[in-house]
Amino acid sequence: MDPKEAVSKVTVPLILERKLRGEKITCLTAYDCPTGWLVDEAGIDLVLVGDSLAEVVLGYESTLPVTSEEMLHHLRAVRRGVRRALLIGDLPYGAFHVTEEDTLRVAIQYMKAGAEAVKLEGGKKRFAQIRRLVDAEIPVVGHIGLTPQSLHAMGGYRVQGKTLESASELLADAQAIEDAGAFALVLEGIPRELAAMITRRLRIPTIGIGAGPDCDGQVLVLHDLLGLTLRPPAKFVRRYADLGSAAREALARFRGDVAAGRFPSDAESYHLPAALREQLGREAVAPVSAALPVR
Ligand code: KIV
Repeated sequence: MDPKEAVSKVTVPLILERKLRGEKITCLTAYDCPTGWLVDEAGIDLVLVGDSLAEVVLGYESTLPVTSEEMLHHLRAVRRGVRRALLIGDLPYGAFHVTEEDTLRVAIQYMKAGAEAVKLEGGKKRFAQIRRLVDAEIPVVGHIGLTPQSLHAMGGYRVQGKTLESASELLADAQAIEDAGAFALVLEGIPRELAAMITRRLRIPTIGIGAGPDCDGQVLVLHDLLGLTLRPPAKFVRRYADLGSAAREALARFRGDVAAGRFPSDAESYHLPAALREQLGREAVAPVSAALPVR
């Protein structure tokens, strides 16, 4: 790595400093080498290989089925595209629900695959797991609020923290994640006011998704932002592009051009050397399309 790149490389200490300086942190998901490369090139600070991979790329109905093997396959691909951003691998459902040693084993595989930090969902009940990972020099990002892996326990994807009891729970969860040693916390699907309270109380940065503008940073699922998802987006998503429509239009034009013989053109074709064409005679000169009936 050249010295200029080393200076701008995003690191865990740099992310912590950002909060002290009041500078916002940007985070997006990526799932393969080209999306990792695009997000990194755009100067985004944190690239998350999210378990949203399950729905956005692999076509599962929720994030629950995705395995750590599938996650690792995509993590390695993203690693090949990302240079400057801090690369975070999301631990899937099941990877941190048994023993702390099991959690550590999966997290070590992530670090060996090129992750620079891991993320896991859940509040104070993840305290021991986070401690274990941090003790093994693995930087951790927490994730509380509307945690998609708790889909069935929550009874659906519902905004969390809307009662005094659940808001107090989330405040305690946030504090526990910080005390366990995480360096950042994702707040998903909670009221803006509660996210602002958590952000003020914590020393580590909060990264919001559907948690309002007062968090220290913001994260979105890349495919939501680009308009590349099959389902309608959630209220908190801002679509910065409509690549789905652009792709549909391009595919229809390709189909039409091939059907009408407009693709490829002569300029898009390779040619025999003139001398060889002569040797081969008339058949090598006349394009087949000239003999096609006009439609
Ligand atoms: O998996 C994911 O994409 C995430 C973000 C939405 C935070 O966890």
